[in-house]
Amino acid sequence: MTAPLIDPFARAITYLRVSVTDRCDFRCVYCMSENMTFLPKKELLTLEELDRMCSTFVKLGVRKLRITGGEPLVRREIMTFFRAMSRHLDSGALDELTVTTNGSQLEKYAEDLVACGVRRINVSMDTLDEAKFAEVTRWGRLPQVMRGLDAAQAAGLRVKINAVALKGFNEDELFSMTEWCASRHMDLTWIEVMPMGDIGNENRLGQYWSLKDMRKTLAERYTVTDLDERTGGPARYVRLEETGQKIGFITPLTHNFCESCNRVRLTCTGELYMCLGQEDMADLRKPLRDFPDSETALEEAIRAAISLKPKGHDFDYSRQSLDGQMPRHMSHTGG
Ligand code: GTP
Ligand code: 5AD
Ligand code: SF4
Repeated sequence: MTAPLIDPFARAITYLRVSVTDRCDFRCVYCMSENMTFLPKKELLTLEELDRMCSTFVKLGVRKLRITGGEPLVRREIMTFFRAMSRHLDSGALDELTVTTNGSQLEKYAEDLVACGVRRINVSMDTLDEAKFAEVTRWGRLPQVMRGLDAAQAAGLRVKINAVALKGFNEDELFSMTEWCASRHMDLTWIEVMPMGDIGNENRLGQYWSLKDMRKTLAERYTVTDLDERTGGPARYVRLEETGQKIGFITPLTHNFCESCNRVRLTCTGELYMCLGQEDMADLRKPLRDFPDSETALEEAIRAAISLKPKGHDFDYSRQSLDGQMPRHMSHTGG
């Protein structure tokens, strides 16, 4: 029963992204609509259920856990869950426990995260301009996130900034964001905006800024060298020779990285999504709740789900329409 999880395309599944809440204290325009209806609390897996679920994946060979949301750090008592997961780091079963956050709660939790064995975190931030930050996140405030970053770095966490590339929005901040990250010793990864959620087609197409174009712009100021290294994630990296800095590009639209996909996504209600860009999912909550004293049914359900992992997503902007558009919001699976 402890054979590793291998999908039909011979990809080993060693990375689980776990969304612990669909709620968020921000309303980023590419992620959520302004008036979101969130899940009733009884639908959510309890922290104990999340523990059973994740521990079963770890038993089946998952070596990296990334906690996501919504905003994971707004879930009540979430540190109890991080503490529980740190036992898998201590035992050597897990290589990495990490989190993707909007940074709003880092001032409060940075030290606790370090105490739970978290070593690096990804913080989403698209602009350094206070007014633009308020515009793109609707409810977010930049100074709060800046204090969070200070707290994270003071606590010894390595920080990677994730910025969604938005045409006509943060194009003009390419160099200032790059230099700011270099000055704070933070990695920077740009993400192409993906067609998720119910935001109008025209709108999203207009926002699309190809990272191929961004690379060209970077090359106007820096010597840009492609790097071969992979972190197991979808990012491709370049180095800017003048600053020595590494910049990541996540390009689901212009380059398809699905062939090396090693991950699946668990939602806060116990649905397992086998691909970010497809609708296929498996309900793992039922086998979990139906058999409170045994994980056998859960393990079987996980294996059955992995055997259905699709080859890849169908996002495509090339025909000037949003093919492969997903009605799901990004906050449902935590990116
Ligand atoms: P590292 O561990 O630092 O490599 O992080 P990561 O890239 O795995 O995680 P992160 O949460 O920083 O991912 C950034 C964003 O990239 C996600 O929120 C998604 O928007 C996008 N992304 C990550 N994985 C996938 C994937 O498998 N497919 C697609 N289409 N997009 C992805
Ligand atoms: N396209 C690309 N990235 C997105 N994110 C949220 N919605 C989208 C989208 N439609 C990113 C956030 C964060 C991560 C969780 O997903 O900026 O970095
Ligand atoms: Fe919240 Fe992240 Fe979605 Fe923004 S992108 S609304 S911070 S979950």
